[in-house]
Amino acid sequence: MRQPAPTPMLTATASFQALQAHAADAGRWHMRELFADNPQRFSQMNTEAAGLLLDYSKNRLDATTLGLLTELARERGVEGQRDAMFAGAKINLTEQRAVLHTALRAPRGSALDVDGQDVDADVHAVLDRIKDFSTRVRNGSWLGYTGKPICDVVNIGIGGSDLGPKMACLALRSYANPNLAMHFVSNVDGHDIEDVLSKVDPETTLFIVASKTFVTAETMLNANTARAWFLLEGETADLARHFVAVSTNQEAIEAFGIAPENMFPFWDWVGGRYSVWSSVGLAVALAIGFEYFSDFLAGAHAMDQHFRSAPLERNMPVLLALVGFWNRQFLDCGSLSVAPYHQDLSRFPAYLQQLDMESNGKRVTKGGAAVDTPTCPVVWGECGTNAQHAYFQLLHQGSEVTPIDFIAALRPTHDLPGHHDALLANCFAQSEAFMAGKNGEEVRADLRAQGMGAEQIEALVPHKTFPGNRPSNTILMDQLTPPALGALIALYEHKTFVQGVLWDVNSFDQWGVELGKALAKNIQAELQGEAQPQRHDSSTNGLIELARAAKAA
Ligand code: F6P
Repeated sequence: MRQPAPTPMLTATASFQALQAHAADAGRWHMRELFADNPQRFSQMNTEAAGLLLDYSKNRLDATTLGLLTELARERGVEGQRDAMFAGAKINLTEQRAVLHTALRAPRGSALDVDGQDVDADVHAVLDRIKDFSTRVRNGSWLGYTGKPICDVVNIGIGGSDLGPKMACLALRSYANPNLAMHFVSNVDGHDIEDVLSKVDPETTLFIVASKTFVTAETMLNANTARAWFLLEGETADLARHFVAVSTNQEAIEAFGIAPENMFPFWDWVGGRYSVWSSVGLAVALAIGFEYFSDFLAGAHAMDQHFRSAPLERNMPVLLALVGFWNRQFLDCGSLSVAPYHQDLSRFPAYLQQLDMESNGKRVTKGGAAVDTPTCPVVWGECGTNAQHAYFQLLHQGSEVTPIDFIAALRPTHDLPGHHDALLANCFAQSEAFMAGKNGEEVRADLRAQGMGAEQIEALVPHKTFPGNRPSNTILMDQLTPPALGALIALYEHKTFVQGVLWDVNSFDQWGVELGKALAKNIQAELQGEAQPQRHDSSTNGLIELARAAKAA
């Protein structure tokens, strides 16, 4: 591997040190006062791009903080590295690959060449095939082996080959063809595929085997199970009507027995967690149709254009990254909670978990040295308002501060009266409560008004006080449409990229998932074999023994 030119350690940079000095002051601020002192805070601390609005005013920072953070972004070379990514430079150093998910959503005619490959022509040739295929399945002219149209699609894949299409199909269900039911199988746990197979009919089901590498153990086992299930009814020759594959590995697809005309390729410069824009998005195109799928790509492209051209001070992904970085590094926030106030975005937190944590869950720099600060926070979350009735207690009054990203649409895609006002009221009320909190005096006044005695009031005050000063962002869109979803995903992709640059980690490899995969292979052989292996630690040996005994019983 070619070693990159050494990047100075983060804590040695002048802007980081200036931020550290500034953080000592900022640590004493309360956002209530920041809002009281500056009535223009909202208008000064929101930005719009690609149909989204980011309100970052409810963070514990001011204009000086933002200026210092922006300086840090410049000192770390965010602009240069961004341009290198868009230009197809091999910024994924450990795998010597370009990182070009942005090319997947660029309009036809965007000239780009990687190693002599005409990326634009390749991308649009595959999109044309996706258009043709999805149209035929959706209009009923693609027929199953008994001459019936397809009514169920089962996407078999895991990680990026599952999370993106599954999240997007759910998010855009209002735009989907109601006659085509989408199913997703990811887990190696047989209960997953068993459940889906029990609901579908081989005559009318299309399987998409989605795997960048086409060697992922879970996906291969599930694909083989699906094929065996299909062959209980159909013939080998019928497989071509019911199995298509999405991968960069054409040889392995052929070996699996999928017809070459049923392959939808993509390329090694598309990371798994950035692949929903590629043929991994076939399930999305089938669900919502190619026109809407194109709109989804266009929304992401609009965010790309913004990210490439807007000054850092008004650049939405850069600001989201810098605010998150501030919370992580200087307010010591070890996790980020994501709260979509939109039921159709219920898989979005899970999607972001892979995007953010598989990208930046790293502890060494691109040059291999230990990173000298904490890196990626834990990302987690659930839809509001459900989350309010589960873990928001901890977010309001727990001993650690967890920043929250609220995501909401101003208008719903349903027309039921009352619901949307209630939903948005809760979303805005939560961010207000996290920011302002409720101090002892306010609690006392409330309790006095209820006629409570002084002694009882004082006993309750500590329990009913909310410290507030808890940071949040609010991301708003008009409606959850295909372009809005595209822009939202691209926003977080670029945010993740910028934070990776600040920490100087390679956001595009994922070696950390390999060890468990290799050990699982060994243990699987031991669970299936005759011999009683005793070569692990006593815990692992004991667990294996229990599983073998249960199997033998
Ligand atoms: O194991 C991690 C990972 O490689 C992810 O990065 C990827 O999205 C997932 O597995 C699935 O990989 P594939 O698409 O090659 O089956």
